[in-house]
Amino acid sequence: MDEVEFERVIQQMPMGACIINEQCIITFTNSAFFGGLTTRNDHLTGQNLLTIFAEQARFLKRKIDSVFVLKNPSFSYWQQRPHVFPMRSTRPITGDESQMYQNVQFMPIINHNGDVGHVCIVVTDVTAEASYFMQQTALKNELERDHKKLKQLHDELKTAQKQMLQSEKMASIGQLAAGVAHEINNPIGFVRSNLETLNDYMDKLIKTNETQKKIISKQAEPRFIALLDDVYEKNGIAFICEDLPELVEESLEGTERVRKIVNGLRDFASPDNETWCEVNLSAEIGSALIVLENEIKYKATTAVTLPEEDIVFWAKPSAIRQLLFNTMINALHAMQPMGVLSIECGYNNKDILLSISDTGCGIEPDDLARIFDPFFTTKDVGKGTGLGLSEVYATVQEHQGEVNVTSELGKGTCFEFTFKADLR
Ligand SMILES: Nc1ncnc2c1ncn2[C@@H]1O[C@H](COP(=O)(O)OP(=O)(O)OP(=O)(O)O)[C@@H](O)[C@H]1O
Ligand SMILES: [Mg+2]
Repeated sequence: MDEVEFERVIQQMPMGACIINEQCIITFTNSAFFGGLTTRNDHLTGQNLLTIFAEQARFLKRKIDSVFVLKNPSFSYWQQRPHVFPMRSTRPITGDESQMYQNVQFMPIINHNGDVGHVCIVVTDVTAEASYFMQQTALKNELERDHKKLKQLHDELKTAQKQMLQSEKMASIGQLAAGVAHEINNPIGFVRSNLETLNDYMDKLIKTNETQKKIISKQAEPRFIALLDDVYEKNGIAFICEDLPELVEESLEGTERVRKIVNGLRDFASPDNETWCEVNLSAEIGSALIVLENEIKYKATTAVTLPEEDIVFWAKPSAIRQLLFNTMINALHAMQPMGVLSIECGYNNKDILLSISDTGCGIEPDDLARIFDPFFTTKDVGKGTGLGLSEVYATVQEHQGEVNVTSELGKGTCFEFTFKADLR
């Protein structure tokens, strides 16, 4: 191939080529370079590259200098600098890309002395690749956005399903509870009333017996008295007289406990018909803290965050009071001295958010799904009825609110309540 033919090949190459000397004077451009420019230039050869492309002069100079000094090629990738030379794309893929995306190579041309005499700048049109790449990136971002939305929807569905299961479970337990409460209420009523009557009879019998014994011991023959003492001794009458009042008292206490449980169950099954009114939640929190002051004092410090304005909403005051007590007492029971009982309350648009958290023992993950069930308790027999949180749940339902519990073993538990600020 002779020189003329070789130059023709270079002229027709589908990539722009421009050769410059050490002073950055252009000594050669091929037609792809010259013709591709969007600026009007009648003649490029003999002109200074940095003057013609003044906007990119600093960048070009740095690249060109590095090639002259280091004698190594240098490269500019479209993603860092998409449009080094103002050229129109020869293959726009979409109508959007009018400017050419370019990869630019700066290649040393070594002369016979072994020095870099010239630098050849080769401009490759990568508009198609860049456009494809950008479309893929946009698609990927869109997919990621969709995926995120789907995940959020999935989480919301999961929460809704959990709440539905919980309320279904509660509804059926509620029916059962109402039935049981009703059935127990009658027998426990007459057992208690009979015990009270028995208590009265027993008092009279014991007093009569003591009087009888006094009279006999004063008036009767000694042989008769000895016989009676023998009968008393054999039947342990003295002990019975001492023990009887205690037995009856304990039984009465037992029936009182059963009565409380039955009332709790009734409240859970059908919260009473207490009237609704504007309830000042900030004030209720304040008074709950005062009432529980003695309990709190030895157990925890309190951290209360309330907004300046009072939080007022439409509710049943005693149910809300009970909700605060039950949750706060549970928190106190869960803590070793000295823990922290935190109460936070505030508005979030049309919602009222209330959180009650402690730094207590936490709840076993397996127990979390059961804490609102009536009679679920981890406390010792006689210590807890397991009705506190089921009452709380019933109140939340009745107020069309929500309750969410998060807990970490050994770290603490947080009850988050959401109530509607505009329920009325
Ligand atoms: N803040 C808390 N930290 C750790 N465990 C808790 C907390 N709140 C509730 N629990 C667990 O949930 C169970 C049920 O609570 P709930 O208030 O219904 O009943 P209880 O406190 O056991 O008895 P009661 O409230 O009727 O006296 C508790 O026994 C306890 O295991
Ligand atoms: Mg409790």
